[in-house]
Order: sequence, then structure tokens, then C-alpha cells
Amino acid sequence: MNVEQAYNSWAAQYDTNKNRTRDLEAVGLRATLADVLFEACLEIGCGTGKNTEWLVRKAMHVTAVDLSSEMLERARKKVSSNKVVFQQADITQPWQFATQVYDLVTFSLVLEHILKLDFIFEQTAAALKPGGYVYIGELHPFKQYTGTRARFDTDEGRQEVACYTHHISEFTQIAKKHGLKLIDLNEYFDDGDRTGIPRILTLLLQKV
Ligand SMILES: C[S@@+](CC[C@H](N)C(=O)[O-])C[C@H]1O[C@@H](n2cnc3c(N)ncnc32)[C@H](O)[C@@H]1O
Repeated sequence: MNVEQAYNSWAAQYDTNKNRTRDLEAVGLRATLADVLFEACLEIGCGTGKNTEWLVRKAMHVTAVDLSSEMLERARKKVSSNKVVFQQADITQPWQFATQVYDLVTFSLVLEHILKLDFIFEQTAAALKPGGYVYIGELHPFKQYTGTRARFDTDEGRQEVACYTHHISEFTQIAKKHGLKLIDLNEYFDDGDRTGIPRILTLLLQKV
């Protein structure tokens, strides 16, 4: 099952399953962006709209992009605002959906499904205004090292979605190559227990 098929299949239960990664990333995004001002936002991998709902309250416009038609259908039902344009697209292909320049590009739990980050960061930098921000919230690579990965259960058994591990330095070095400077990095832990392995990594980058 490829990533698109997997999320089409997962969509019906994505919002209702117990999923600590989904929920803790929402906390990370809201905390990281609480004091960041933006008018135009490009949300990459919006899924069922978990973060679109929050972003649209702060923005004048959100372009929300996802590969999966089933995930997008749920997002469209959840977020009824004329400030949002939903687009189905594969972000590993040229970003024709980026129809303007943005103040903020967000990635929530999507880059783990992308093998090559270089093209993604190149397209991100091109889509941003100077001084614009990039938010990344991912399953922490330390958590991936222990075997945690995107998965869901179906009547046919457990389904695992193709995932790749990106080390923290991979994010920061490729960002630097494309003129995106690291301005904040944080880690989120289950139940706030900082003696454990962090579940979520967040990065805030700025186009210099
Ligand atoms: C774990 S879900 C995260 C959804 C949402 N951002 C959230 O935090 O709940 C990952 C999403 O990335 C999307 N995705 C994966 N690969 C993609 C690609 N190449 N292009 C666009 N979207 C992609 C999937 O369809 C899925 O909706």
C-alpha cells in the first residue's frame, strides 16, 4: 500500500483513534506559533484539518495541501471557512499549488513520509516571503530509532505507512543550504515526562 492509499484507508479513523503523536504535535504547533504573526499560510500535509482549524483563525488565507483525497474530504467538512483553499497534490512534485508567496509554511507529521528533503526545502524557500517562517513538527527521530512509526489497524490487520528517518542535523543542514535559519527547536514528551524519550520534535525556521 503506497502512502496515498494508506491515508485514504486511514482517513475514516484518523481523528478518532487513540494517537498520542497526532495530539502532541497539535500542542507543539500551537505553542511554537502562538506569537508568530502571519497572514498567508501554506499548510503542507493538512490531513483531516487538525491544525487547519487553528491556523485559519490566525491567518487571512490558508492554502492547505494533501496527497489523500479521503483525508482532504474530512478536512473540508471540518473547516468551513472561505479563507481556506484545499488542494490535492503530491509535494514531491513541483509546487504548482503555491499560487502566492507565504508568511508561513507548516509541516505536521508529513516529512517522515518524504525520502528526499532537499527538493521540499527548495520549494519551501521559493514559496516564502523574505523573513517568512517554516514550522516543522515531526515524530522525533529518537522515537523512530525505537521503532515507533505511523501505523493503523484495519480488518485486514495492522497497516504501516512508508516512513523515513531524518536526523535533526539533516533538517537543520538542508534548511541552512536553502537560506532557512533555525530560530527555535523544541521537544515534547508523553505526559510531560522529560526523563523519557521525546515524542515530537518541532523546528521553527526563518527565511533570511
Ligand atoms: C500523519 S498525517 C498528518 C496530518 C496532519 N498534518 C496532522 O498533523 O494530523 C500525514 C499526512 O501527510 C500527507 N502526505 C504524505 N505524503 C504526502 C505527499 N507526498 N504530498 C502531500 N501530502 C502527503 C498524507 O496524505 C497525510 O494526510
